Amino acid sequence: MKTQIFKVDKDSVDILNMAADIIKDGGIVAIPTETVYGLGANALDGEACKSIFKAKGRPSDNPLIVHIAKPEHAEKIAYTNQLYYKLAEKFMPGPLTIILPKRDIVPPQTTGGLDTVAVRCPLNEVARELISISGLPIAAPSANTSGKPSPTTAKHVLDDMDGKIPLILDGGECSVGVESTVIQIKENEIVLLRPGQITPRDLMSVCENVTIAGAVKEELKAGEKALSPGMKYKHYAPKAELYLIDDRYINFVEFTKARQKAENCAIMCYDEEISLLESKNLLPIGKKEDIKKQTQKLFDLLRKADDLGVDTVYAHLPSDEGESLAIYNRMIRACAHRVLGGINGKG
Ligand code: TXA
Ligand code: MG
Repeated sequence: MKTQIFKVDKDSVDILNMAADIIKDGGIVAIPTETVYGLGANALDGEACKSIFKAKGRPSDNPLIVHIAKPEHAEKIAYTNQLYYKLAEKFMPGPLTIILPKRDIVPPQTTGGLDTVAVRCPLNEVARELISISGLPIAAPSANTSGKPSPTTAKHVLDDMDGKIPLILDGGECSVGVESTVIQIKENEIVLLRPGQITPRDLMSVCENVTIAGAVKEELKAGEKALSPGMKYKHYAPKAELYLIDDRYINFVEFTKARQKAENCAIMCYDEEISLLESKNLLPIGKKEDIKKQTQKLFDLLRKADDLGVDTVYAHLPSDEGESLAIYNRMIRACAHRVLGGINGKG
């Protein structure tokens, strides 16, 4: 299959119509969202969703997120409650995914056989316009091959999906850079399953009772049941061994400069450190205080680290608090909990 790629904005009527036709016919289109690119198909068509799993090489029990153009469109696919609408008022459209009991209209292929469905109304206008034109809820997991970092540019999608899908809509670089915050809700309770740009503190402004699932910060214990199937799968690990340095205990520049002399490594450093290190294989991630930028760049740099063909990658251990929790969660999984320095340090 030849994969076509077009630059789009929300007014690219012809291309969006073409994309909507593909989706209505049961096909797959890669779509930009504010978080990461998604592989979109008709969420109400079990066969179409099956083909998403095939294109990604994803285990079929790992459910897809269903994207809608307006928060109230959740009614068609799920049983909502008051808390859903309170959260929607504050955070939708935006990078928040809410898990709700599903209606029968959603086939089991979409939800990995679960009786719940994950609902998200993206901020990205191309994504919402496409959902509106197609008149369908669109199931979309991240548009990477399973086991690789989520794509934050159309080029990343092409690298993974060339020849596997007919169309990629290029909406530029994703502004958030990590996947949406995923939560489970009851009448008066929120459980955070995956951290994203919307933080526990943000959620607490709507409902005080927010708990963070154990697997967000720790490895899932043997035999422990994952609240979200995605948590149990090994996440992206670079080909090189990634080490995170707790710079409260280790001087990052001194340590990594010595490693640069001793081994074939890449360093994911802050912009302020560029001039202090050897220039070879540096992967600057943004300014030390600029968590937003670091989050946006992370997946691109992990892909670049793979391309460099190094044996090891060293990076800063991010804080696990506030807006940094999302990048902490992705990095701690990518490094298989190899942290140097500090009480949790293994080195
Ligand atoms: O930002 C995002 O959420 C992106 C863009 C494309 O919207 N999508 C995304 O999808 O990250 P995916 O499939 O890569 O991750 C979905 C996560 C998985 O960890 C999955 O297990 C969880 O959401 N999930 C989906 N439906 C669920 C459900 N019914 N119950 C529990 N977890 C669910
Ligand atoms: Mg994913």
